[in-house]
Amino acid sequence: MAMTYSGALSKLIEQKQEHVLAFWDELDEAQRVGLLAQVEALDFADVARMRKALAKQVGAASPPLGEFGPAPVLTLAEAGDPAVRELGVDALRSGKVGALLVAGGQGSRLGYEGPKGCYEIGPITHASLFEIHARKILALEQKFNTEVPFYIMTSEANDAPTKAFFEEHAHFGLAPERVTFFVQGMWPGLTPEGNLLLDRPDHIFVSPDGHGGILSALRIRGVLQDMADRGLSTLFYFQVDNPLVEIADPAFLGQHLANDAEISVKVCAKRDAAEGLGVVVARDGHSEVIEYSDLTDAQKEERTADGQLRLLYGSVAIHIFTFGFLKREADQNLPLHVAFKKVPYCDASGALVKPDAPNAYKFEKFIFDVLPDAERATNVEFAREEEFSPVKNAEGNDSPATTRRDMVAKCARWFEECGIAVPRDADGTPTVAIEIDPCYALNAEDLKGKLPANFKIAGDVLLK
Ligand code: UD1
Repeated sequence: MAMTYSGALSKLIEQKQEHVLAFWDELDEAQRVGLLAQVEALDFADVARMRKALAKQVGAASPPLGEFGPAPVLTLAEAGDPAVRELGVDALRSGKVGALLVAGGQGSRLGYEGPKGCYEIGPITHASLFEIHARKILALEQKFNTEVPFYIMTSEANDAPTKAFFEEHAHFGLAPERVTFFVQGMWPGLTPEGNLLLDRPDHIFVSPDGHGGILSALRIRGVLQDMADRGLSTLFYFQVDNPLVEIADPAFLGQHLANDAEISVKVCAKRDAAEGLGVVVARDGHSEVIEYSDLTDAQKEERTADGQLRLLYGSVAIHIFTFGFLKREADQNLPLHVAFKKVPYCDASGALVKPDAPNAYKFEKFIFDVLPDAERATNVEFAREEEFSPVKNAEGNDSPATTRRDMVAKCARWFEECGIAVPRDADGTPTVAIEIDPCYALNAEDLKGKLPANFKIAGDVLLK
């Protein structure tokens, strides 16, 4: 039975949060139903963990991180064994590999309204991020004559538009029965006193519970069961903002399998000490990722005798999980990360106040916090220019302009590997735009097999 007003009131009084119902008398029926559903969904065990995390955070300038050192990494030179790659190919062919995309974030830095995956990034076609990811999965299915189920985590705010976008584009050619959307959880924010806030008279302020929320969402939404039903054993995890990602790349899959890892992490050398990447470290025999914002400048800048950054390798949130590990972790409570933010709220009259300074805490779980729980974890180096160029900011580094540039540069290198000249300016930047549909070629080798004889580049090139 759905929650009643008196049920809600007693649940809230027990936690001294009855102010949530302050505007009850002014709400219409639909608003009351919505608010009661929110109260019903509130998990005060989570809220208790949030308050604990707050108490720890307040007053401590930067929580002590303890002893750790750089994690072992399989370097590019070590990671390219063709026999190991074959293991990855076999896993794909056997239909045991799925793709897991986290796309529940709010994309606020980019200043783009709507799901970030709908952002048009194709240098010529303006293909969306979602299209590029979906076409890569379709290309794998075609190339290896297999099925690669595609799981997409959304949030309450972007679930409907994300599904509509896939519908509108006929799932970009993928079989709809192999594309599964599931919604991540929402968590309330708290005032410094540990209280809930209303952002409307009929609505408690909530925000997505972080990409680490994927674990509980996989369980609650029945996705783990779906994966089990499909016989999946290996899940490739990636973020929506990086169109260069090599989805379920056989060499990486092969390393994961050869090392019998429970989780594998793709890492690259940081551009510089200040770059906003979480770094991979080892502590007590386990791997960990420490988020950039949790390191001091001194830790970020520390160098070894040869002048290299001591914490050189960053994680770009490309992982492989074994199904069993995901399932085990789905029952764990991940640590909470706390951020002090400007959260619009209702004042005593019900009017919305937009604060000028941070006024409330938001809480998130991070997926990489599962790392210390893994029996075995492997960190595998990749070449940044080949696989990582995310769209994060409107301008500057990691912006649409740099991402498109890097997409073109990658295709240009493929052409040159095929012995075809690419016109370049004095700085070496291609002077033409190039875009290749993943179903045409996933790499230089595929391209070589497809190109017509005497192919020449005279202007922009679009291959699809
Ligand atoms: C993230 C990583 C950072 C990594 C970098 C690589 C964190 C805290 N940091 O930084 O270590 O080096 O990417 O690009 O993760 N998302 C959800 N639900 C949420 C929050 C996020 O699905 O509640 C998804 C987003 O849609 C996106 C991804 O997670 O696909 C990353 O989120 P974002 O906030 O952009 O992370 P960054 O701070 O850029």
